[in-house]
Amino acid sequence: MDKAKTVVEMREITKRFPGIVANDNVSFKLGKGEIHALLGENGAGKSTLMNILFGLYQPDEGEILINGERAVIDGPNKAIELGIGMVHQHFKLVHPFTVTENIVLGTEPKKGLAIHYKKAREQVEKLSKQYGLNVDPDATIDEISVGMQQRVEILKTLYRGADILIFDEPTAVLTPQEIEELLGIMRSLVAQGKSIILITHKLKEIMAIADSVTIIRRGKVIDSLPIAGTNPKELAEKMVGREVSLKLDKKKSESGDTILDVKDLVVKGRQGIKALNELSFQVRRGEILGIAGVEGNGQSELIEALTGLRPVHSGTIALSGQPLAGASPRRISEAGLSLIPEDRHKHGLVLDFAVRENMVLETYYKEPFAKRGFLNFEAIDKHAERLIAEFDVRTPTIFTEARALSGGNQQKAIIAREIDKNPEVLIAAQPTRGWTSALSSLSISG
Ligand SMILES: Nc1ncnc2c1ncn2[C@@H]1O[C@H](COP(=O)(O)OP(=O)(O)O)[C@@H](O)[C@H]1O
Ligand SMILES: [Mg+2]
Repeated sequence: MDKAKTVVEMREITKRFPGIVANDNVSFKLGKGEIHALLGENGAGKSTLMNILFGLYQPDEGEILINGERAVIDGPNKAIELGIGMVHQHFKLVHPFTVTENIVLGTEPKKGLAIHYKKAREQVEKLSKQYGLNVDPDATIDEISVGMQQRVEILKTLYRGADILIFDEPTAVLTPQEIEELLGIMRSLVAQGKSIILITHKLKEIMAIADSVTIIRRGKVIDSLPIAGTNPKELAEKMVGREVSLKLDKKKSESGDTILDVKDLVVKGRQGIKALNELSFQVRRGEILGIAGVEGNGQSELIEALTGLRPVHSGTIALSGQPLAGASPRRISEAGLSLIPEDRHKHGLVLDFAVRENMVLETYYKEPFAKRGFLNFEAIDKHAERLIAEFDVRTPTIFTEARALSGGNQQKAIIAREIDKNPEVLIAAQPTRGWTSALSSLSISG
């Protein structure tokens, strides 16, 4: 492969949002047939940079060269025309539709619709085979796994003729098995001449698959280097800007009395089928209980039952000896159970609300946030300021809408709020999804 040929060059790109410089004079190059990783912590500016390359944002300064020629990418259509495709963090698929329908959606039929569809289906099948995607063109999106849905997004870009593929945190939503398969697909893509930009903060994946890496921290490029000759420790340090230890010093935990006691819990899931069948477990003070399993085996229903969002059919739940099966979410929360939810968009935050309001979602009615039925914004603001400082939530201000925060900082906001309540038991549902898993298994010194 002619890696010497540069297919994308971003030169001195600057992008400002109110209160923040998301990209500060960023330059980087992608060679043909190369997998180039963009590494950075949450909020570093990776997605912004790629949204610029895909035409979703316009840079305030700087220029872009595609195959050596200056390009003004004023929208995704222009990006697609230039052979750029993007697999987003959140898929943009229409659920009741089939794979082929989703892929065709938005492309102009040249002949009749039926002929168009038949041709498209053949093309989808061909591409799927060529790159080892193994996608059923006739399945509906509802029927296929998240990993398969992502492959449909990949097919969509290929169908539109992409030679340059951008993957934004693609492994965040995948199981370990699916991650392996995706890495295989990426290898097959570059082997056949495609070039890939991979956004990630997972060092293991970068070491396994990338040819080179550009490290971004707080909007600035820290370094750009080939993977051969670097190591995870060096990358981690460049990413966070301080020394890190890759070893985890874990003290033996000292567990105390039983704090959460679940006995013979039966909970019905969708369609009235038993999602939990006489489940029993205990959590002791000072211990972390891990619940492992393939998604869809009752984990979500367990969390919903524990937090009062789903009726308990039979069995008991006791927190510090208080029976809580079937109690209201507010009562359970007041009894000392906190949740870092799996879907932070649906359950963790109200995206239209400001950060300060999100910090008191479950406590706004209590003193000091409310007094005689009125909200006390002075106390609410002070509380929010303290939490964002203590937990390093990167937001321009406490008045910023939650939706403007990067995913990782939204997560931090939830963690800050839930931990600050000082709960008896904290449930963390897939807390590392879309998160710096490389770092969650590192202890950071300093
Ligand atoms: N549309 C937007 N409006 C305001 N601020 C934004 C917007 N998009 C991103 N930001 C801010 O820009 C910074 C970089 O975000 P992002 O590019 O999403 O980071 P990353 O992808 O590296 O996690 C963050 O502080 C984020 O809050
Ligand atoms: Mg991002």
